[in-house]
Amino acid sequence: MRIDGRPYRTLWPTGDGRAIEVIDQTLLPHRFATRRIDDLDSAVEAIRTMVVRGAPLIGASAAYGLALALKSAADDASLERAYGALLASRPTAVNLRWALDDVRRRVRPLPPGERAAAAWARAAEICDEDVALNRRIGEAGLALIDAAHRAHGRAVNVLTHCNAGWLATVDWGTATAPIYLAHDRGVPVHVFVDETRPRNQGAALTAFELGQHGVPHTLIADNAGGHLMQRGQIDLCIVGADRVTARGDAANKIGTYLKALAARANRVPFYVAAPHTTIDWTMEDGLDIEIEERSADEVTHMTGRLHDGTIARVALAPPGTQAMNPAFDVTPAELIEAFITDRGLCPATKPALAALFERDRS
Ligand code: MRU
Repeated sequence: MRIDGRPYRTLWPTGDGRAIEVIDQTLLPHRFATRRIDDLDSAVEAIRTMVVRGAPLIGASAAYGLALALKSAADDASLERAYGALLASRPTAVNLRWALDDVRRRVRPLPPGERAAAAWARAAEICDEDVALNRRIGEAGLALIDAAHRAHGRAVNVLTHCNAGWLATVDWGTATAPIYLAHDRGVPVHVFVDETRPRNQGAALTAFELGQHGVPHTLIADNAGGHLMQRGQIDLCIVGADRVTARGDAANKIGTYLKALAARANRVPFYVAAPHTTIDWTMEDGLDIEIEERSADEVTHMTGRLHDGTIARVALAPPGTQAMNPAFDVTPAELIEAFITDRGLCPATKPALAALFERDRS
């Protein structure tokens, strides 16, 4: 997608093939800057501190991180050490494990001298595949937006939570891919963007990227969604996912579950857009998903731009206030109207998911 008219992906290999460059998402929307990642430690750090974030992008970054690690040491022990360090960088998004498993499976049978190049090539493929998967999610979801437009004869109002946009993937996004396609093809669409406390990925990232692409949108406080649904102002919800279990429970950014409950109460269809790389076939019950606990500072403080343009961090709560910060929650399958996947729409049931993705299950 474009920033100031220039096409970007969220990460790309540098010309010398020694590093990758990523958009530093901790600085958006106030500053656009890229960051060079050239070894294992900087890859782990970028994922952990959310310089790169969003399930598919975490996976793609980890694949390159493993390749970078193998450039300096490619024996079996080093491979396992790098795999372990990257896997521990963030716990909830299963795309991380998917990408690491994929690269490790391919390079382990190779002699150490060939592993780094093979891993690098596979990381590049994972990025290209992610773009293609999201594009297919876009086609599947476009049909829903188009149908809503025909039914209502006006712009379709979509609510989304967090950032499951192109910044969370290599390109296109998951939840936003149908929105971008609809917009590009002249289907009028308007997005209500949840701010997404505590890190404000909606306000900072989703609003930024929709604005850059010219998609009409309105930022709302996280608590406004139920009110809007009750008054018929939301036609459908589309969110992303960090992990989908075999039976269709979906972990996504904290607050997603409340939106799904409000959607069910108000008969607003609630869709989860996710590629097959987000499905964890080893898990049934979403409540078994490890939920990342992040620093309480993210709840008690907020960062933003002051009138004079400087970036500042301000306290919101009395000093010493105890706070907790679970980063994700789980929406049970029964609240999900359907998954929007790279293979089309899929009911949120175990048999439907298994049938659609039979060849990917391991
Ligand atoms: O903590 P984050 O910003 O990595 O969380 C991101 C989300 O929860 C996204 O909605 C999810 O990863 C889907 S991204 C296409």
